[in-house]
Amino acid sequence: MVEEKDIQSIFSEELKWIDDKKLADQVVKVWKKASDMGKWKTLDKIPFTLLFENSGKLTDHTKRVTHLAKAVYDKRDEKINKDYLIAGILLHDVGKLLEYDRVAGKIVKGEYGKKFRHPVSGAMLAKNLGLPDEIVHIIFAHSHEGDKTERSPEAVIVHHCDFIDFHIKKGL
Ligand SMILES: [Fe+2]
Repeated sequence: MVEEKDIQSIFSEELKWIDDKKLADQVVKVWKKASDMGKWKTLDKIPFTLLFENSGKLTDHTKRVTHLAKAVYDKRDEKINKDYLIAGILLHDVGKLLEYDRVAGKIVKGEYGKKFRHPVSGAMLAKNLGLPDEIVHIIFAHSHEGDKTERSPEAVIVHHCDFIDFHIKKGL
């Protein structure tokens, strides 16, 4: 079973960028709940994506895009909410823990994942655990689900940083 301390350790550097410590704690709790619901024994076995082979670990992708988003935040003068941005990007793909399933040692899209893609399941989970709607919006809108909504500035950053990482990794 994945423990909160394991999650804190994986994202130790990035969680420190969230000023509101209660919010940083909530981020860990959402990962923990998703891990428990998905019955994951370790986060290390969860791939970034099933859309191409050898995509690496989801946690590594999450860390890379969080660093990208922080770099964008540091270069912008607009009023961007750093706590929402960092919490949102740390959680944007947490729904993959519910979307994926294991069949005969292989990770595939599960029955729940076929009904609710990870932006939807991640957003629902975060909402259920009491995270602010600004963060629920970032999770929901980070992929194509958000194309019909007006993304907040934080959601725009998460959307683009995510696709930068996706397309570069896919092209390797
Ligand atoms: Fe992502």
